[in-house]
Amino acid sequence: MKFFVDSADVAEIRDLVDTGLVDGVTTNPSLVAKAGRDFFAVLREICALVAGPVSAEVTATAADAMIAEGRKLAAVAPNVTVKVPLTWDGLKACRALSQAGTAVNVTLCFSPAQAILAAKAGATFVSPFVGRLDDIGHDGMALIRDIVTIYRNYPGTIATEVLVASVRHPMHVVDAAKIGAQVCTIPPAVLRQLAKHVLTDKGLDAFLADWKKTGQSIVAG
Ligand code: E4P
Repeated sequence: MKFFVDSADVAEIRDLVDTGLVDGVTTNPSLVAKAGRDFFAVLREICALVAGPVSAEVTATAADAMIAEGRKLAAVAPNVTVKVPLTWDGLKACRALSQAGTAVNVTLCFSPAQAILAAKAGATFVSPFVGRLDDIGHDGMALIRDIVTIYRNYPGTIATEVLVASVRHPMHVVDAAKIGAQVCTIPPAVLRQLAKHVLTDKGLDAFLADWKKTGQSIVAG
C-alpha cells in the first residue's frame, strides 16, 4: 500500500519524507488555507520534496475553467496530479485532462456509483472519504470494500487506483490495507500514530534498563 501525506505543511511533509515512508502528498483548498501561504509556492516546494504524485485541487466549478486551472497546476511540476471534485463538470474535466496525459485525482467520492464514473472518466485516482462518512453514521470502510470489489471486476479496463481519504485513525489504514486499496492519504499525526504501541515503549524501556546493568557499550565493544 502506498502512503501519501494529507497536508500542505511543507515542514511537516519534509520531516515525514525523511523517513522514506512517503510515496506522495495530497492537498486540498482547506489544507492550503490552513498553511496560510501562497498556493503555488507551497506546491512547488512540496513537488521538489516528494518524487511521487502531489495532488493539487482546482477551485473552479465549470468544466472549462477546471481544465484551464488544471493545466496551470500541471505545469508547476511533472509530479502534479490535478484534483477535481466528483461533479458532472469535474468528470468532464477529468476526461479532458487525463486524455491530454495529465494525472487526475477525482475527490469527494461518497458512493460506489460515483467511483464507477470516475474510472470511466479516466481518473488516475479516486478519493473516497471514509472519515466524513463515519462522521454521519455511515460505514466509510464499506465504501472502500465496494469500490475495490467493483474495480477488480474489470482488471483490463479500469486502471484507476483507490486512494482512501479522510483518514482519522490507524485502523482506517489497517482496514483499507486488508481490503487491498492501493493508496491511503494520511494526516501527519495519524501517520506518526501508526508506529506507536504501548508495549513497544514498555519493552524498549525494559531492554535498555537491563542493558545498562551490563555496563557494556556496542560502539566501544
Ligand atoms: C483528501 O485528499 C482530502 O484532502 C482529505 O483526506 C480530507 O480529509 P478530511 O475529511 O479530514 O478533511
